[in-house]
Amino acid sequence: MAIHPPEPFRIKMVEPIRLIDPPARRQAIERAGYNVFALRAEDVFIDLLTDSGTGAMSQEQWAAILRGDESYAGARSFERLAEAMRQIFGFRYFVPTHQGRAAENILAALFLKPGQYVPSNMHFDTTDANIRARGGRPVNFVIEEGKDPTSQHPFKGNMDIQKLRAFIQEVGPENVPLGMITITNNAGGGQPVSMANLRATAATYREFGIPFFIDACRFAENAYFIKLREPGYTHKSTLEIAHEIFALADGATMSAKKDAIVNIGGFLAMNDENLYQRACNELILREGFPTYGGLAGRDLDAMAVGLWEGLDENYLAYRLNQTAYLANRLLESGIPIIEPPGGHAVYLDAKRLLPHIPQSAFPGQALSVELYLQGGIRAVEIGSVMFAHPDPDSGEMIYPKLELVRLAIPRRVYTQSHLDYVVEVIRKIAANRERINGYRFTYAPELLRHFTARFEPLGQTVTA
Ligand code: F0G
Repeated sequence: MAIHPPEPFRIKMVEPIRLIDPPARRQAIERAGYNVFALRAEDVFIDLLTDSGTGAMSQEQWAAILRGDESYAGARSFERLAEAMRQIFGFRYFVPTHQGRAAENILAALFLKPGQYVPSNMHFDTTDANIRARGGRPVNFVIEEGKDPTSQHPFKGNMDIQKLRAFIQEVGPENVPLGMITITNNAGGGQPVSMANLRATAATYREFGIPFFIDACRFAENAYFIKLREPGYTHKSTLEIAHEIFALADGATMSAKKDAIVNIGGFLAMNDENLYQRACNELILREGFPTYGGLAGRDLDAMAVGLWEGLDENYLAYRLNQTAYLANRLLESGIPIIEPPGGHAVYLDAKRLLPHIPQSAFPGQALSVELYLQGGIRAVEIGSVMFAHPDPDSGEMIYPKLELVRLAIPRRVYTQSHLDYVVEVIRKIAANRERINGYRFTYAPELLRHFTARFEPLGQTVTA
C-alpha cells in the first residue's frame, strides 16, 4: 500500500469522544425520530454530519481570537478581515454575515421577484430554499457526467453551458435576475468546476446581462483541484488561481465555516456600489452593522487568518489526500461511492448500495440510520429527503437523480485511524445490506425538511 502523507500538524488539545453501546444507540436513534440531526452530539462517536463549522482552528486563529476588537463600528478586526478579502477575492465591497445562508438571504432579497429563475450548476439546499422562500425558482444545469456516480470526468461540477444558454433564451433573460455557480459542487458530490468552465459560465451570463455570483464555500479546494487537474495551472499558486476565478464574477457568497476553517462566519461580496448600499440596509435590518454583520470581532479575526490557512497548499494536499484515502479504501472494499472523490467528503451511493429500497422509501436515510446503529457514525442524507419536491406546475413528486449519504470530513479533526474505523463499519453494513428497510415520514416541514423531519421504519409501527 502506498505510504499516505501524515497529517501536517500535531495535536496539542484533545476533545474526548466515546462510543456508546448498541442498545443505547438504538434508543438514541428512536428518540431522534430516526433523524440523525436530532441526535445528541454526546451520543455520536465519529461525527461526519458536516465539514461546516466543525474544523479545528489553528494556534494562529486562537491567538487572533484574543486580538478581536469588539467595537460596534469600524473595528480593527473588520479592517484585518477586509485586507484578507481584498488580497484573496479582490471584490470592491463585502459585508460579513453570520454564515453562508444569511448572505444568500440578502442576495435573494436584493435580486429576486416571485416567478424568476436562478440558474446554477447545482444550488446547495440553503441556497435553493432561500430562492424558493422569495418565490423564485432555482434551476440546476450541472453536466450529465456530474450526475453519473462512476464517470471519471475531472471536473464533474461543471455547468452545462449549452443547457444554460438554451434555458436563458427560452425563459428570457429578463426572468433571470441572477446567475450562480457553486464551487465545489457540494450537492453533486463535492466536485470541482474547471477554470475553463467558470470562464464560459461568466461569458454566458455576461452576454445576457445577468449578474454572476459564485457560491465560494469551498473555493480553495476547488482552486487546488484546478492546480492538480487543469492544463496550464500546475505552476500557479492557489492564490493566483483564486484571483483568476473571482475576477470572472460580479460577486460571491461564502460560508466561511468551510474553507476559512472557522466555527462561524460568512460574507456577501460584490463590485457594484449601489448593490452594496442596498446590501448594507438589508444587513442592518437582519444581521448587524456592516463592520461586524452578526459576528463578534474575534470571529472576524479568526476568519481573516483562516482564509489564508485554507489556501495553504501543504494543507490542501493533506486535505484532498485524506478524502481520497477514505474513498479508495471504500472502493477497494467494493462500496459504491461517487467517483472520483470530491474535496470535502466521500459520498456513498445509497441507490447502488441498497438497490432494494425505492426512492420513495429513502435509501439514503436508511443508510444514515444504519451508520449510526452499527458504528455511532453520523452522516447526512443528500437525496430524496433533502431534495424530492412536488413540481410547482403539476404537483407530481420529482425525485433527485442521486441518492447519496455524505461522509463529510471536518478539517484537521480526525486522523487516519478514525477513517479506518469508518471503513470497517461500512464494510459490515454492506455485508448485511438485505436486512435494511426503508423509512416513511411521520413529520416533514415544507422547506429544508431534512433538518427537522421525523421518520418511522417501514414494516413496523413505532409507538410514540
Ligand atoms: N453553499 C454551500 C455550497 C454549502 O455547502 C453551504 C452549507 C451553504 C451554502 C450554506 O452555508 O451553512 O454557513 O449557512 N453547507 C453545510 C454542509 C451546511 O453541511 O454542507 P451556511
